[in-house]
Amino acid sequence: MSSYNIALNFEDGVTRFIECKAGEKVLDAAFRARINLPMDCSDGVCGTCKCRAESGSYDLGDDYIDDALSEDEKHGGLVLTCQMVPHSDCVIAVPTSSTACKTAHGRFSATVSKVEPHHDAAIVLELDMDAGAPEFLPGQYVNIDVPGSGQHRSYSFSSAPGEAKVSFLIKKIPGGVMSTWLEAAQPGQKLDLHGPLGSFYLRDVRRPLLFLAGGTGLAPFLSMLEVLARAGSQQKVHLIYGVTRDLDLVQVGAIDAFVARLPNFSYATVVAEEASRHPRKGWVTQHIPADALNDGDVDVYLCGPPPMVDAVRKHFDDNGVKPNSFHYEKFTPNAAPGVSSKAA
Ligand code: FES
Repeated sequence: MSSYNIALNFEDGVTRFIECKAGEKVLDAAFRARINLPMDCSDGVCGTCKCRAESGSYDLGDDYIDDALSEDEKHGGLVLTCQMVPHSDCVIAVPTSSTACKTAHGRFSATVSKVEPHHDAAIVLELDMDAGAPEFLPGQYVNIDVPGSGQHRSYSFSSAPGEAKVSFLIKKIPGGVMSTWLEAAQPGQKLDLHGPLGSFYLRDVRRPLLFLAGGTGLAPFLSMLEVLARAGSQQKVHLIYGVTRDLDLVQVGAIDAFVARLPNFSYATVVAEEASRHPRKGWVTQHIPADALNDGDVDVYLCGPPPMVDAVRKHFDDNGVKPNSFHYEKFTPNAAPGVSSKAA
């Protein structure tokens, strides 16, 4: 391979993808792409260019001093971009904003190809990207301008990267600006997108995964599962998909199709509503099998409305559950997803 695809994920959630030639240092590749990553000495001395490598393989270089990058920092995944030479595609978290690095997210135009309502619960929106497949990390979102409103709404891709046709799973909100527009939308109409955004994305898969989805928070997991299936992942993955009403369970067929493609994938649906006859009632926290937590050696990804995210965090705290890492995204109907993640 003569070059690698490097995702630079900035503190404000903006992601830019750059090409890094074989043997090239990340800082140099970023400058070629007119992105001013933090730097001072460019010699491995000052530590100003320190970032976190979240996935991929790379050489840290041997020209830096301990004061710039200690052994502990190195083992914690920190890197000096003025020294780092990738050996694969990588994701790098940059601890400053995209504007400070004189860059911004991309803008794309797209054409509506399908609008598929699921009762009064959700809408599947499919778009053909006018400039071909957009780059994003599985789990990330974009802002979509709602035509004629001067407003935008944020939606996670439910499709995987690498496709010119992208899809979204959108919560239907009575009177909501996007829901209202989609009610009358027709194939062929144009939409503008901005992104990709967000730090809720699939990291290197090194241990079992527990995915917890609430309502249309299922979308990023469909993208992640597709990426895992394409990669032929053998890793254990358990998804728990919780909704309020039976009617809110959408795209279960799409989830089920992954059982045949991912040998160690399992899932469960959960419905909260009292009147439901669903076999699993209540909240996702009541349906987490002990083996899915793997004695803490698990990476947990959680996407849902704020009360669900708070409930899961409390459940983990109350029960002394300390996963290896815990990444979560809260979404509310009218706001950009609030994203957070932490390594426990
Ligand atoms: Fe000084 Fe990298 S810029 S250590």
